[in-house]
Amino acid sequence: MRCIDELSAADLKGKRVLLRSDFNVPLSASGEVGDIFRLTQGWQSVKYLSERGAKVIIISHIGRDPAESLKPVAEALKKFGSVSFVADIFGDAAEGARASMRDGEILLLENLRSDSRETENDAGMGRELAAFADMYVDDAFAAAHRAHASIVSVAGFLPHYAGLLMRDEITQLDKARAPEHPSFAILGGAKFETKAPLIQALLSTYDNVFITGALANDVFKAKGYPVGRSLISKELPSKEILENPRFLAPIDATVENSGKEVKVKKPDTVEDDDKIVDIGPDSVQEIAPALSQAKFILWNGPTGLYEAGYVSYTHAIAALIAHAVEDGAQAVIGGGDTIAAILESDIPPEKLGFLSTGGGAMLEYLLKGTLPGIDALK
Ligand code: 3PG
Repeated sequence: MRCIDELSAADLKGKRVLLRSDFNVPLSASGEVGDIFRLTQGWQSVKYLSERGAKVIIISHIGRDPAESLKPVAEALKKFGSVSFVADIFGDAAEGARASMRDGEILLLENLRSDSRETENDAGMGRELAAFADMYVDDAFAAAHRAHASIVSVAGFLPHYAGLLMRDEITQLDKARAPEHPSFAILGGAKFETKAPLIQALLSTYDNVFITGALANDVFKAKGYPVGRSLISKELPSKEILENPRFLAPIDATVENSGKEVKVKKPDTVEDDDKIVDIGPDSVQEIAPALSQAKFILWNGPTGLYEAGYVSYTHAIAALIAHAVEDGAQAVIGGGDTIAAILESDIPPEKLGFLSTGGGAMLEYLLKGTLPGIDALK
């Protein structure tokens, strides 16, 4: 796989570059981009190409509704530099905008998923996209687990390169697949059945694997504790996982009852009307010594229900990681809610090691060591 930093300025000057970014960011109720993390991370390749005189045609998807527009993203990108937007991909408006581009100019096209061929990995769409440019650059690590036309098909029709973010994500996640010891992994989220293979893999490479978020509810349930109204997966952790000495789970929980009263409880005292919404302080204390001594920390998934505002223990864990990083540990942290929660804390993000833009892509890469979008670049 070649990266754009292997190209000389002469290779890029005046060239049309089709840049696949993942600018799939959450929009606020008023339709604005609130969380610019993916834009900040993705901008480095845009800037690199533009500064070397390439005509940069950015393509991305946003959301899962084909009617959703990237216009708010174009607005948000104005903080970084001059970006034009056309609410079109293959029509006359987009063709006109592409034809009038000068060297160094940046153009963002409309949501790729407005064309149903995108998610079908349609070769015709890949060929039509390829016709826009002289080379293809994939910087959309966070979408590289999707075998879509703008990620897989298109790469077969043009000279192809990884962007700077794609390269960095792969480098950091390769380190996380073979961590320095002692190592500590934290995995949250829901749907135990989808996470079980990764948990097994982490248990064979990490010295400690702490399960949190809604996955911890499954652990409580599998251990025979009451879980009230908490979210529970279809499948529960096996005895083999639960009895693995490297496997760690919370020892207390924050619960909310139907009257919205919030309490911290030991797992055996959770009542029928309780819903587990986060871990508790004893869990943080319990993992603190091993976490602080770790040389490598991997984290995906907040400890609690981020969307309901339960972030205090996620922040407490981030603070422990910041100390470990200060003492020389490496950390790789990812997942949309995890990063969003961390960025709302008062811990400067640069103190936390590498923050991945990947959610599902990060988890799949950790398990498989490649993704369809990465294979397409090889
Ligand atoms: C993500 O946010 O995980 C990627 O942008 C992929 O989006 P998707 O899950 O809608 O395919």
